[in-house]
Amino acid sequence: MANNKIIVFACNWSHNITKDIEQIEETNIIRVMCSGRITTALILKAFELGTDGVLVLGCPDGECHYNFGNKQAKKQFEITKNLANVLGIEPEKIQFESIPKDEEMFTECIKKFANNIKKNG
Ligand code: FES
Repeated sequence: MANNKIIVFACNWSHNITKDIEQIEETNIIRVMCSGRITTALILKAFELGTDGVLVLGCPDGECHYNFGNKQAKKQFEITKNLANVLGIEPEKIQFESIPKDEEMFTECIKKFANNIKKNG
């Protein structure tokens, strides 16, 4: 599928978002203060508005700036994935990753997700 649109919600505290990263093709990176801020409604709204995939990137376990935001996000994320599946959104189109502050890893994670979306349409 051409012209995939990917939304990436990325925790502000775990990544330095540079110009290079912002320019990953067909990807919109939205910086949030914590992955715990990402709600089911927000993810489903992205699909309603036409996104092809949503990737949430949070801090690794034990490194959330707000102590438990990423734990809360993971729990909420599983609920969101199940609900989205009921609504006909394939589970592969929604992904949560906890990654350390590493620009290369951050970029690779986004590219891998975007490629999977393109491959699976
Ligand atoms: Fe990064 Fe909470 S501050 S996930």
